[in-house]
Parts: sequence; C-alpha cells; structure tokens
Amino acid sequence: MLFKAPRGTADILPDEQAYWRYIEEKAVAVCKLYGYQRMDTPTFEDAGLFARSVGEGTDIVNKEMYVFKDRSDNELALQPEGTASICRAYLEHGMDNLPQPVKLYYFADIFRYERPQAGRYRQHHQFGCEAIGEASPMLDAEVIQMALWFFKSLGLTQFTLQLNSIGCKQCRPDYLLKLAEYYTPLTPSLCEDCRTRIVKNPLRLLDCKKPGCQAAAEEAPRSSDHLCEGCHDHFEALKIYLEALGIVYGVNHRLVRGLDYYTRTVFEFQPLEGGSQSALGGGGRYDDLITELGGKQTPAIGFATGMERIVLNLKNQGIEVPGQVKPAVFMACMGNSAKIEALKTASDLREAGIPVIVAAGDRSLKAQLRQANSLGAIYAVIIGDDEINEGMVTLRNMGTSEQQVVEPEELKTILGAQE
Ligand code: HAM
Repeated sequence: MLFKAPRGTADILPDEQAYWRYIEEKAVAVCKLYGYQRMDTPTFEDAGLFARSVGEGTDIVNKEMYVFKDRSDNELALQPEGTASICRAYLEHGMDNLPQPVKLYYFADIFRYERPQAGRYRQHHQFGCEAIGEASPMLDAEVIQMALWFFKSLGLTQFTLQLNSIGCKQCRPDYLLKLAEYYTPLTPSLCEDCRTRIVKNPLRLLDCKKPGCQAAAEEAPRSSDHLCEGCHDHFEALKIYLEALGIVYGVNHRLVRGLDYYTRTVFEFQPLEGGSQSALGGGGRYDDLITELGGKQTPAIGFATGMERIVLNLKNQGIEVPGQVKPAVFMACMGNSAKIEALKTASDLREAGIPVIVAAGDRSLKAQLRQANSLGAIYAVIIGDDEINEGMVTLRNMGTSEQQVVEPEELKTILGAQE
C-alpha cells in the first residue's frame, strides 16, 4: 500500500454511515423545531479571521491551526471552528438588516493539529448553531435547551451540563488581575504552558489538565464571584430560566473554554465517562465578536457538537440506529441475451422506484445467488436462456427460496406491493 489516510483523519466507511445519517436527521429536525436555517461557509478562510476571533493567545490558533499560503501569497487557514466564519458571513451578507436574532446552523469539517486519540481527530466534523443579534438570557436558556433536545432525540443520556459565566470586558480585566495575583506565588508548581499563561491568558490556567495545575485551580478566585451587575443579573436570570425548564446543570467554576471570544455564559456537555477532554459539545455567548470583525455591537450565542464524539457515545451507550436499507431486488442473469434483458428489466423496476442491484460479469448462478444473500436482497430475479425463450422471468424469494415464473411486466406490481 502506497498511501494511508493522514494521521488524525478517518474514513467514514459505508457501515458507519447509518450513524452519521441518523445524527444529521435529528440535527435538522431540532433546527426546524427551533427556527434555525442552514448555512454553509468555505472550508478555508483568511487566517486573520481566526486569529482575530478565536484569539492569538489560544492553543487553537497558536499550535493547532492549519495555515498555508496559496499561489497568490494569501495567508489562509483550514477552519479550526465554525463560529467565526458564520459571523464573517453574517456581516458580509448584511444579515444585520434582517429581523434579529438571525438563527443559523451548519455542518462543517473542522481542522485542528491535535494529538490524535479516541474521539480526538485532526479533521473532525461539527454540527453547530448560532443565534446572532439578541442579548437576553432567555436566548441562552433556549440554546442550551435546544442542544439538550438534540442529545435526547438521539437517545443520549449519560452526560452532564456544566455552566459558568466568565464576565464581560467591563468586569473581566479585574478578575484576570485577581487570577494572576493568586497564581504568581504558585508559579513553581505550574506546568511550562501555565507559566506563560499567567501573563498571556490567565483564564486558561483554570482548565489546564496537568495535576499540579489542577490542584492550584481548586482554590483559585471564581469568575462568578467577580461579575459586574449586568453579568451577574444575566447569569442569575439564566439559572432561573433553566430551572423553570427543568434543566439540570452544575456550575463549574473552572469552565472557561478554549476560544477567546466568549463573554458571560459558557457551557459544556460532558459524558459521564471519558474525562474532561471528551466533551460532547459546548458553546457560549460571544457578545463582542461581531464588533471585533468590524460590525456594530451585536450580542450572540451558539454551540457546536462533535459528530465523532456523538458516534462514540451512541456506541458506548449501546444505542441502535436505523440500519441501511437492504436492496429489494438482485438481478441474476446467465447468457448474453439475458444480460441485455437484465439491464432493461432493472431500469423498468427503478423507474417504478424499486431498488435493484444487477449482477455484472460471468459468475455462475450459484455464485450470483450467494452474492444476493450476502447483500441481504429480499428477492432475486433470475433470467437465463429458458426465461428468454419463454419471455418470462423467475422470481425467487431469498428468505424462503420459493420460486415462481412470472411475466416481466408483473414484477413491478408484485415487488412494488412488497415494498
Ligand atoms: P469547541 O468546544 O472547540 O467549540 O468544539 C465543539 C465540539 O467539537 C467539542 O465539544 C467536541 O465535541 C468537538 N471537538 C473539538 N475538537 C475535536 C477534535 N479534535 N476531535 C473531535 N471532536 C472535537 C467550538 O468549536 C465553538 N465554535 C462552539 C461554539 C459555537 N461556540 C459558540 N458557538
């Protein structure tokens, strides 16, 4: 073999497709229920878009983004997440003139140069939703409920909802100072990355997974204790709405998320097993992102889920998905005239909406029927010299092995009625 799929990527084989179609179908259904419209954006964008939105100081931009120059020397990046592109497109297409909030959903291929492991890929797939143009915590509650609705419709139950508020540009600077003050004397116990985070991105100190840093984070000042009045009221109202909707959540003071654009509400869905780096999905508010990209002040909130993580959790929880449709009819033929007749009969059946697989080649009837069996065909239509001479076809029920000789025109009625 000369080539393999690049490290951290995966082929989605036909046997796996049933999971993916199931997830897409449930996602589209929930979007319809909540009034979201589909949007597709390019797989690559100006690299500056992500530096500006996700943040220069984040691992995603600094260490994980696939950046390249095209032949005209433009610096481009494969999208390392979906929100920035949606916001760019919102501005580019004047969607701020539409009734707000504008509610959009997407399925996107996402690229991050991470260390591959179970459920962690360098190319993964996200289903995401963004609601742009409304500041009310009612929308936060609705977006969180929508994500839960989606997971529930898939049959997933073994996960928790974690919630936090990380404040806004008014109250966060003070909180970051408090964090830096707390962490500075602890520097010797911190990992290499966290020592630089004290200066560059103190919020990320809280979600470092290294044991020494985790211990330090336990006693760290909490963002929810340092919110301004607006952020505090927003967080309290959200909690009231969630409780009214019967949504169970836990406040996780160390939940800060890995992207810099968040303000106020952040949330994540964590499977009961699998550790903190295996989130099923996550999101939050990003009230300043549209301004960062050159638009007017436009509050927004959204979430995204990783499709591979969902497949993994569906399997772990033993959730069966509807299987692939088996072919209704397998067309077996022997002899040159029969081959022509088989192609024509198959076309007639397909015209009538009946799925058919035609045996191509010169295998024996026995081998052809074996193939029909392994494909799970319900019927085989057999055409050989006898059938050609009599202008008939043999119809075999693959389950019972019963056979009957019928006129080709009758097939549509018999097989159509079986569907
Ligand atoms: P994120 O938490 O970085 O958020 O990614 C969303 C989800 O994508 C994660 O919860 C996880 O399920 C999945 N995921 C992330 N990285 C990988 C990976 N390497 N392999 C497999 N799955 C992965 C965002 O991307 C934000 N744009 C979400 C958002 C939308 N916030 C507001 N709106």
